[in-house]
Amino acid sequence: MLLHLPNVLTPEQVAETRRLLESVEWIDGKITAGYQSARAKNNQQIPEHHPVARQVGELILQALGQNPLFIAAALPRHVFPPLFNRYSAGHSFGTHVDNAIRQVPGTPMRIRTDLSATLFFAEPQEYDGGELTVEDTYGVQEVKLPAGHMILYPATSLHHVKPVTRGARLCAFFWIQSMVRDDMRRSMLFDLDVGLQRLNRDHPDHPSSVQLTGVYHNLIRQWAEV
Ligand code: NI
Repeated sequence: MLLHLPNVLTPEQVAETRRLLESVEWIDGKITAGYQSARAKNNQQIPEHHPVARQVGELILQALGQNPLFIAAALPRHVFPPLFNRYSAGHSFGTHVDNAIRQVPGTPMRIRTDLSATLFFAEPQEYDGGELTVEDTYGVQEVKLPAGHMILYPATSLHHVKPVTRGARLCAFFWIQSMVRDDMRRSMLFDLDVGLQRLNRDHPDHPSSVQLTGVYHNLIRQWAEV
């Protein structure tokens, strides 16, 4: 499932983030790529330990922690500290799959990448190209979102970033280990959750609501790792 999360950050947070990101010296993006993806990767990143990366990363994680749509869709267990990339004219990232396991820098902690996330900081009209292209179960999806919006997609998918031909594409990217590893199960739980919220809103006293809420939680009991 590909999910578009609108307004993860406010316009003010996006503006402040851009000011911070633009003050930093960027380095070659191959630094965080695996052996296979390094050959396909041509962009720039901020060093992982840079204070600006940490500051903005914290802001993103705080915002996501209060985002009900993110929590319902990702059922997050661990979230990797966000990384930041910039694609200027001539930059691209060829087809690859993200590494399955990532060590959280400076800690002994490893996370399994069940979901990949890209959060956009530049408006689509500021650059040409740069579409995130994901090979989903339902075909190829091209994604280019307004600043402050985020896409969540299964980390199992092959994906690439089309060449940027004008301007610059500025994004945060990171991974989520979900309590529910399987994308199909996670998607069904999300659909059930969304349906239940609608039922509770439209028919607050309907007896099926309690019963179906029980089914939701019992499925979580069956499938979740905590
Ligand atoms: Ni990737």
